Amino acid sequence: MVAARNVAALEDVVLAAGKLGAQALAVPTDVTDAEQCRRAVDRAVEHFGRLDILICSAGLSMRAYFSDSNLEAMQRVVHVNFLGTLQCTFYALPHIKKAQGSLVALSSLTGIRGVPSYGLYGATKFAIEGLYDSLRLELKPDKVHVGVIAPGFVETPLRENVLGPSGQPWDNPPPPPFRIWPVEKCVDKIVHLLVWHRRRINLPWFMGPLFWLDEIVLRMIGNAILRYAFPRVLPRADEPARVQGQPQVHADGKR
Ligand SMILES: NC(=O)c1ccc[n+]([C@@H]2O[C@H](COP(=O)([O-])OP(=O)(O)OC[C@H]3O[C@@H](n4cnc5c(N)ncnc54)[C@H](OP(=O)(O)O)[C@@H]3O)[C@@H](O)[C@H]2O)c1
Repeated sequence: MVAARNVAALEDVVLAAGKLGAQALAVPTDVTDAEQCRRAVDRAVEHFGRLDILICSAGLSMRAYFSDSNLEAMQRVVHVNFLGTLQCTFYALPHIKKAQGSLVALSSLTGIRGVPSYGLYGATKFAIEGLYDSLRLELKPDKVHVGVIAPGFVETPLRENVLGPSGQPWDNPPPPPFRIWPVEKCVDKIVHLLVWHRRRINLPWFMGPLFWLDEIVLRMIGNAILRYAFPRVLPRADEPARVQGQPQVHADGKR
């Protein structure tokens, strides 16, 4: 079962699954609405008779400095990323327990280490990491697998819809300073996590050891890299974020 808001995109997934010989069901859902999350879970169980795996992937990105950001825009990101995950997990859990299945959530490397200009987005991912960390222990007696995927930048439409400080999507979001991974690589990692019941997978894999090393050296490596990779060049909140063809105005006033 696939759930999101865009009905046409959901039908495309159902069609693609059908061509591969799989049966799929589209359930239009806005994950910010708890009742719709409940209905989506119920529809899946009614249709397939059980629910083995929940993958909480709905997400909205925001790139802006916290002090410049519009409060409502930040609340929207929290609602989609964290409350969406929480609500779907809440309603799916009884069925996942019965099936001794898997709960999987999409986190991010920004959910492991704070990144300038990704503070709010990262906070929603830290929240998911915290919730799923606790659930892993709580649900061990029920033999439920709980896993998170923490990718860096992945080539998906998410990056075309990154919210700026005003809450409007950027026309041209600042380019990611690190490698952008193909979506297939990320999907492979999700499948691997499910098959091997892994606790977490980072993309790229070496970020795990790098985070450990960074803690040992009092975060000096990480701070230097982040300061270099994420300089303060974002527009201010009072500047329109989505004006076609306008040059980007930097925080220091330079164009
Ligand atoms: N791409 C990256 O660089 C990257 C890196 C790290 C982590 N992630 C995480 O990976 C996950 C998947 O993102 P993606 O890269 O695949 O981006 P994407 O292609 O934009 O997918 C995001 C999905 O979330 C759905 N969604 C957004 N708001 C929703 C809502 N209110 N209710 C239901 N569905 C909603 C969208 O569908 P509708 O618009 O049709 O609702 C869309 O299918 C996200 O949690 C993201 O934070 C992505």
